[in-house]
Amino acid sequence: MISASKMATTVTLEKIISLCKQRGFVFPSSEIYGGCNGLYDFGPLGCALKRNIKKLWLADVKSFAEPVFEMDGAILSSPKIWEASGHVKNFSDPMVDCLNCKRRFRADELDLNKACPTCGVKNWTDQRQFMLMFQTQLGAMSDSSSTCYLRPETAQMVFVNFKNVMNSCRTRPPFGIAQIGKAFRNEITPKQFLFRVREFEQMELEFFVHPSESDTYFKTWLERREKFYDKLGLNKNKLRIRPHAQDELAHYSTNCSDVEYEFPFGWKELEGIAHRGDFDLSSHQKLSDKDLTVFVEATKEKYIPHVVECSVGVDRLFITTLFDAYHEEVVDGESRIVLKLAPALAPIKAAILPLVKKLEEPAQKLYQNLLKSGLEVEYDESGSIGKRYRRNDEIGTPFCITIDFQTLEDGCVTIRNRDDLTQQRINMSTVEQFLKERC
Ligand code: GAP
Repeated sequence: MISASKMATTVTLEKIISLCKQRGFVFPSSEIYGGCNGLYDFGPLGCALKRNIKKLWLADVKSFAEPVFEMDGAILSSPKIWEASGHVKNFSDPMVDCLNCKRRFRADELDLNKACPTCGVKNWTDQRQFMLMFQTQLGAMSDSSSTCYLRPETAQMVFVNFKNVMNSCRTRPPFGIAQIGKAFRNEITPKQFLFRVREFEQMELEFFVHPSESDTYFKTWLERREKFYDKLGLNKNKLRIRPHAQDELAHYSTNCSDVEYEFPFGWKELEGIAHRGDFDLSSHQKLSDKDLTVFVEATKEKYIPHVVECSVGVDRLFITTLFDAYHEEVVDGESRIVLKLAPALAPIKAAILPLVKKLEEPAQKLYQNLLKSGLEVEYDESGSIGKRYRRNDEIGTPFCITIDFQTLEDGCVTIRNRDDLTQQRINMSTVEQFLKERC
């Protein structure tokens, strides 16, 4: 039996970036024009991995004991939303420029008593605040009345639609609204590949509760979100919960904990779980002059719900799963790169591999049947079987299905397991069920 011996895997940012480009997960955006800092395009496998991440997140939040509804708000909106939310006033980072090389830095990430890390000269401008929201004009007018912003978080679309969802779904707190969508931030220093980018997707859950129950729900969601990463198969030793110190809290939150992951560049935030209190609904109620309270008929109580928010970036979780899954091993004297992604996340669930081209017909038949059943499968007949295995290991395909000459006699195929390299023969008619049970 073939077995894999482990080498000490040093996963680096460079290795992940290179794998992503070579295998069609992620490409630098506008690459043929020299690229655009902080922007990326997703290739075929990247789209599939992203889709699986979003599907699993949504299924998980929607399986909560209380109802969770979905919505999809507009990216552009009334600037009043961002006034009420506090973003126009507060959503900025301190910035300094190097007067020598003209590079721009976040002042809170530098020691300004030292020289510029790029050119080695110490000649800084004064610190000033840099607005992180992208601004644009809505309509043909170009004066300040048409100013609007690309949303820097998806959450506000949920707050301003809170009553629409509550009334149309005939519900009352506790309930949640989940949203997945693009967010934009003009980060001063986008860095670490997909970790900090200027255009990204967020998966946000805003959970509305009676104020007296908000602390309990905050704890419940924190525990639940931690379990979610367990379900994705992420290494427990690389995950931790870090409560925010009082002086770290965002302007809208009264309590917040981050789920952090140990990236090659240190422990960093993966997801934020925040107790937003009634900050958002109260602010929108005040500025819009619309009633955003909930009325309880039985007790005649009128209150503004508190909100527990769970917010994670799709792109950030995307690279987390890649860092976590990346392994280098030796198989049969040859080294291999293998992405040990949870089968539910894997972009391709199974590769259908005829041993030789002559076996194309039965292999194609199996492939087409699996495709029709909705499975993400791939057909590959080029190159040696060893090379095809390696390629599929690198993209995290959990199962390789080989069709050989014996298949023509007994109708059985060989299924190779990506992680433990075991092989088993099963009847072709049971392959769909085999894959569906495991993926
Ligand atoms: N609604 C709350 C909110 O937006 P945040 O901590 O600013 O809070 C939430 O962002 C999550 O969005 C982060 O934990 C991270 O996963 C992701 N995120 C934020 N900024 C990002 C960026 N520039 N690039 C990639 N992901 C980002």
